[in-house]
Amino acid sequence: MRRPVTFLLPAVGLGIFLLSALHPADATLQAPDFEKQVKPVLATYCSACHTGKTPSGGINPIQYRTMADVQKASKEFERVLAALRTGTMPPAGAKQPTANERKKLIVDL
Ligand code: HEC
Repeated sequence: MRRPVTFLLPAVGLGIFLLSALHPADATLQAPDFEKQVKPVLATYCSACHTGKTPSGGINPIQYRTMADVQKASKEFERVLAALRTGTMPPAGAKQPTANERKKLIVDL
């Protein structure tokens, strides 16, 4: 009796190994660096209206420095995320992030 499945196992194992080598888990699971990855995008597209003593809507996401700060200010960032997801911010007429920049912000936050 031949059992072809047994012959396939090493190939499947090798495939899984190669896939995990191409997608190292830590690259996707690591928290983003707020200062390097998130803040510059927020600064570019939101700072015109969301900085200073009276930021529009009481939202000032650029004042923070780390992802821990973001977690502490989760109420504010829930609103930021909602605005990014629905596309209501930046408002029409203001400089818009590319689709990729918007997607990346949502993933990072
Ligand atoms: C041209 C000015 C302008 C820019 C640029 C801008 N906003 Fe706003 N934003 C406003 C104004 C004005 C309000 C308050 C009025 C309102 O809620 O519509 C507001 C409100 C908000 C709110 C509160 C909405 C709510 O009620 O929950 C959030 C969150 C927000 N903005 C996020 C952002 C983010 C994130 C960016 C950048 C990607 C951004 N905004 C860019 C003008 C701006």
